[in-house]
Amino acid sequence: MAAIDTPYFNQVMERLQHKADGMIPRIGDKCPEAAGADGVYSNREDDYWTSGFWPGLLWIMYAQTGKEHYKEAAWNWDARIGEYLNKPTHNIHHDVGFQFLSTAVIKHKLTGDPEGLRIGLQAANFLAGRFNPAGNFIRAWGYHFTGWAIIDCMMNLSLLFWASETAEDPRFKHIAVRHADTALQHFIRLDGSVNHIVSFDPESGAFIESLGGQGYSPTSAWSRGASWALYGFANAYRYTGDAKYLDASKRVAHFFLASLPENGVPPWDFRAPDAESAPRDTSAAAIAASGLLELAKLVPADESGTYSGWAARIVRSLTEQYATWGQPEHEAILLEGTGHLPAGQNIGVSLIYGDYFYAEAVAKLCGWTENVY
Ligand code: GLY
Repeated sequence: MAAIDTPYFNQVMERLQHKADGMIPRIGDKCPEAAGADGVYSNREDDYWTSGFWPGLLWIMYAQTGKEHYKEAAWNWDARIGEYLNKPTHNIHHDVGFQFLSTAVIKHKLTGDPEGLRIGLQAANFLAGRFNPAGNFIRAWGYHFTGWAIIDCMMNLSLLFWASETAEDPRFKHIAVRHADTALQHFIRLDGSVNHIVSFDPESGAFIESLGGQGYSPTSAWSRGASWALYGFANAYRYTGDAKYLDASKRVAHFFLASLPENGVPPWDFRAPDAESAPRDTSAAAIAASGLLELAKLVPADESGTYSGWAARIVRSLTEQYATWGQPEHEAILLEGTGHLPAGQNIGVSLIYGDYFYAEAVAKLCGWTENVY
């Protein structure tokens, strides 16, 4: 693989800065999730799972540029979302990592703010409280069956690993490791493909069945699920040094890369019957690119270029074929994400998590080494 073309990605970062500067007044106080053809982001509740991504993107821009207006726009989001942790009812669940790693925790890492630390640890305690010791899994969502676990949660484990180190309390790490072991056993197939949901008996912890969830079927390969797994297991390896997690991340990466179409942007499910013509998911591409850059840092030097080269190729494709540079009024960065196809939700739209992980991947390609996840 060729070396990373740093001048190219520095130029992309300049375009991204320009774009983010336009997004700040347009998005305003909104809690964005998805934007359709009108280019206007929807405004979700502050406790919705996607609430951390817009402020996370702003924190990345601050880290990259040192410009105060990004920090000012991001500053209050940890308190704004954290308020819900103190309410009797709310919609915060296993995705608490997505909401607070990219707000409270990164705020604390970048500025030393004690409130960021406090809210981050409160969120980690909340996530630890969702652990079921019978089946060794972190329970998904706040509805459905109490025995469901999902592959996305691998990304939330970084909140527990961070809390373990920060609070010097290994309980958090033990929970993260147990969940990761369960995910390794039940979600990651021998060929590196991944399914979305596994159902356990919450009393006995016994495996019941695999479910398709946001993917096409229990035996299909939801592309964003693969991205979460690829990135999440790389993080688990970085925190624990346990080679089985590195192997899992590589196995998923190899499946993902081998299944990609020529332009590096996957269909929403690699095994959808019409995969070649099916809606793409740019968010899966962006998450995978950032995860591949993580993997590139963790493998021996002679393996690294394969992963970083693919990440650069995917980001270049997103930049040149799927971005809104030519539409300054558009509130999002990437087009053609797929949120939840089986439910008919957010198909062929911009997704704030696609934008966040795109910005994260570009920052990494420009030399950023801080970890949000
Ligand atoms: N965490 C939900 C999703 O990836 O859509």
